[in-house]
Amino acid sequence: MSRFRDGSRDIELSELGRESVVRAYRRYAPVYDWLFGRILEAGRVAMADAVREIRPTRLLEVGVGTGLTLPHYPDNVPTTGIDLSLDMLRRCSNMIRDRSLDQVDILCGDAEQLPLPDDCFDCVTLPYVLSVTPRPDLLISELKRVCAPGGAILILNHFKGAGVWQLGERVVEPLADRVGFRSNLDLECLRDPEWIIESVMRVNLFGLSKLVRISNVPA
Ligand SMILES: C[S@@+](CC[C@H](N)C(=O)[O-])C[C@H]1O[C@@H](n2cnc3c(N)ncnc32)[C@H](O)[C@@H]1O
Repeated sequence: MSRFRDGSRDIELSELGRESVVRAYRRYAPVYDWLFGRILEAGRVAMADAVREIRPTRLLEVGVGTGLTLPHYPDNVPTTGIDLSLDMLRRCSNMIRDRSLDQVDILCGDAEQLPLPDDCFDCVTLPYVLSVTPRPDLLISELKRVCAPGGAILILNHFKGAGVWQLGERVVEPLADRVGFRSNLDLECLRDPEWIIESVMRVNLFGLSKLVRISNVPA
């Protein structure tokens, strides 16, 4: 178990290293869209609808994977996608070419150390990544850094205690390193005095995931 410090208390997380993530998504890449495309699609559409409402001028998607959310975003917003897994990004690159998503650039890198300057996006999205990244606390610090003051951060994720999914959460919990995601991330880990949680919306089948809309540190 690793620990995630949340203000006054420690939250326990299943162990998940960078190498395990890369290895897991090398295995998933050829079948990812088939396995996780439709079942998680409603959440992606809800996230993209929120982006349309926000009307950003520059958008960053962290953990872009095979790019399943990209076609839903407005096509006139310059968009950057980043991912650790080259295997996932190769597929993303093909999809961008096939659909002529010329507004999208992708790069391979670790979002826990984003190779990007401060305050350079007014909207940052994170679809199904917080339970995968080795150190969610480091990732969150980076989101706050690259998102401009008052900008929007949208987090789409499964959080523990999700109704009918709780039995599945317990089964998967000890296997995080092998399956490439944790089932035990607590929504509490998003409490942060430096940002404002604007809304939390249940999405996907039987509330499998939540879409959390956050306003970054005010100027
Ligand atoms: C469950 S997939 C989600 C893919 C896509 N966003 C979707 O909607 O299906 C998680 C993705 O996050 C990427 N990832 C995990 N940790 C990361 C990190 N620290 N930096 C960049 N990408 C990361 C993985 O490589 C994987 O492609």
